[in-house]
Amino acid sequence: MRVLIDTSFADRGPSGTAVYIERLTEALRASATVDVIETRRRRRPAPGRSRRHGRVLWSAINALLDVGWTQVSLRRQARRTRADVIHHPLPAWIWRAPCGQAITVHDLAFEHLPEGFFAEDVADRFLKRLSYVPLDINDEHGFTKLATAIGDPCDGVAIFLSTAPSLFKPTIDGLEAAGLACPTIRLALEKPLGTNLETSREINDAVAAAFPEDRTFRIDHYLGKETVQNLLALRFANVMFEPLWNSAHIEHVQITIAETVGLEGRGDYYESEGALRDMVQNHMLQLLALVAMEPPGDFNATAVRDEKVKVLRALRPITPADVEATTVTGQYVKGAIEGQPVPGYADELGKESGTETFVAIKAFIDNWRWKGVPFYLRTGKRMPQRDTEIFIQFKDVPFSIFASRGATTRPNKLLISLQPSETIELRLMSKTPGLDRDGVRLREVSLDLGLANAFSEGRRRIAYERLLLDLIEGNPTLFVRRDEVEAQWIWIDRIRDSWAKQSMTPRTYPAGTWGPSAAIALTERDGVSWHE
Ligand code: BG6
Repeated sequence: MRVLIDTSFADRGPSGTAVYIERLTEALRASATVDVIETRRRRRPAPGRSRRHGRVLWSAINALLDVGWTQVSLRRQARRTRADVIHHPLPAWIWRAPCGQAITVHDLAFEHLPEGFFAEDVADRFLKRLSYVPLDINDEHGFTKLATAIGDPCDGVAIFLSTAPSLFKPTIDGLEAAGLACPTIRLALEKPLGTNLETSREINDAVAAAFPEDRTFRIDHYLGKETVQNLLALRFANVMFEPLWNSAHIEHVQITIAETVGLEGRGDYYESEGALRDMVQNHMLQLLALVAMEPPGDFNATAVRDEKVKVLRALRPITPADVEATTVTGQYVKGAIEGQPVPGYADELGKESGTETFVAIKAFIDNWRWKGVPFYLRTGKRMPQRDTEIFIQFKDVPFSIFASRGATTRPNKLLISLQPSETIELRLMSKTPGLDRDGVRLREVSLDLGLANAFSEGRRRIAYERLLLDLIEGNPTLFVRRDEVEAQWIWIDRIRDSWAKQSMTPRTYPAGTWGPSAAIALTERDGVSWHE
């Protein structure tokens, strides 16, 4: 008996889902051959719909796996009357998401690619190249199976590990034992690579025992973002900024990574990390290093990373004596974002917690170039808007010739917005047009150096596209070297120790605000306002 199940039921909300599961269960009970038919979608799915669809499919697939199935036909029904049958071996079209759901690769591609970009023939060619080899990290036979599936690694293989810190070592041991650490294999690692200097060293030692540094690619996805790379072009492909890029001309620097999202179902992970380790230890310090580094001798991995690590090592340690004056931590309580009510962190987590979801820091880089220039860093979840930006405020003119004519000047600013918009704006003073018989009027105007307008043609690449390509091609320039990671941890561990010594706990802030009021006071004490 052959039973056809139309997954379009799954798109009709919970009752459709229930019908679907029920039909599938009946079919399995009858030991029938089950074809899963997916109705071809003409339009982009509504937000959330595709994931629900994926979840339902996953329940179905799990049920099939439980009774020993290895192959399912995925049918796309072009019209009610006709079904295009596409046979995929089961593993090829299912992608297991970290949250335990499975989503079809087709669905994901359809959902995430820009309108009109998805091409069935390309997707089919791509799907045919995927194989899925499930394995238990603690079972060496699994790694042997993986090695067999990979075949001869001499052509070059890139392995990408995105896993819990405790699983790195056994995974690397397994790979090595199965011959998957040979010189043609590169290893990419995704954070969290430990929770402090000590645990990060343990992971890095385990990695180094099998993969030398030149084959180890530590991902910080911020380095793959187009605007972050453009920061290097701005600084080092133009002559005009470099002479001003120092404490003689820059008053202060602000780096903000504001997110509107909350826990996103990652409670266990986030609870053990907090904003300092989740965002500052990696993304924020990498941005800071790119802003502050000396010009590298070349745009290659060694030269760029040598310069970044010098900055990271020059960060002034934050001690118990100054931690209260230079850092602020917060945790969101219930509030509203864009008019929608949002629960507090503890509500989302389901228990009380002392983990910070916001952190603001006044940092200094003790070197010749940056002596005395504050770098204000700020990141938080459930902020009023998603915004990642670097804001550089220059010093005011030493003397204003317009003061006698009643005009005030304001310091120049450079605003580099990384996301959601990708813009670079230089704010300059300009004369307001007019005859000026009562005095001169000056106004701040923006010079837009934006990517979006200058390069509107072509699709914007997301960070991982760039990084995975570099991994495949063996270019480590945009990956983080071990000494950088360790320098980052040294600075971060010191802050955490100081918080503990001063018994500092997060202050609350309502979701949808820019953090606790103490974060405003942190800059206001210096006569500086956060750029918002
Ligand atoms: C991840 C953090 O590294 O970066 C997340 O673990 C955070 O908590 C994310 O949400 C932010 O990345 P992006 O690219 O959305 O700014």
